[in-house]
Amino acid sequence: MFYEPKNGHGLARDPIKACVVPRPIGWISTISIDGIHNLAPFSYSNLVGSEPPMFMFSANGAHLDGGVKDSALNARETGEFVYNLATWETRDEMNSTSLHVNRGMDEFDLSGLTKVDSIIVTPPRVAESPISFECKTWKLIDLPAATTGAHNVMVIGEVVGVHITDDALKEKGYVDVTLLRPLARLGYLDYSVVDDVFTMARPK
Ligand SMILES: Cc1cc2nc3c(=O)[nH]c(=O)nc-3n(C[C@H](O)[C@H](O)[C@H](O)COP(=O)(O)O)c2cc1C
Repeated sequence: MFYEPKNGHGLARDPIKACVVPRPIGWISTISIDGIHNLAPFSYSNLVGSEPPMFMFSANGAHLDGGVKDSALNARETGEFVYNLATWETRDEMNSTSLHVNRGMDEFDLSGLTKVDSIIVTPPRVAESPISFECKTWKLIDLPAATTGAHNVMVIGEVVGVHITDDALKEKGYVDVTLLRPLARLGYLDYSVVDDVFTMARPK
């Protein structure tokens, strides 16, 4: 089939997210200018640069109150956010932090997750997550919004600090993702787990 998104797909369910898979889940912690902690998953997220390392996530649609989602708002207002890796172990907690709640509510409390202080930035890391990046917001880019009232914004930050659990390094001296079992987002409500890896040398 071929379709132009502006004309609709004609299928029972929107296929677009199932066409770019698997997507990493950026589990983003931020803090508001009033000091309220926030945590939410974003599958429109990825590492987008390596020297310096740059990380992005994209907040699409409106917050409960009609404004931009908390994570993007906080990253803009405070200039900081933290990426945490979502894993098989933390799948239920990750999912619980996607609940649409009022701005005053702290999703760490909702999910029962543990905050641990970051070293360079103010937002805390998720203690249960084996990898976290401390990020300084570099730029926000407004994306086109198809529906009135939607706020689609891409947040890009520079990674200024990297935390890797020693458990993931100890066996091989490099990050063994099979020990971490990262969670990935597919289309619809589907997920995948990275627990099988193969290596392929670059052509010379
Ligand atoms: C696995 C997963 C991935 C998600 N990815 C995104 C995303 O990329 N962009 C987005 O705007 N919302 C995404 N959501 C929904 C947000 O997590 C949800 O709207 C959340 O309440 C936003 O929180 P905030 O207002 O505290 O930033 C995702 C939810 C789940 C469960």
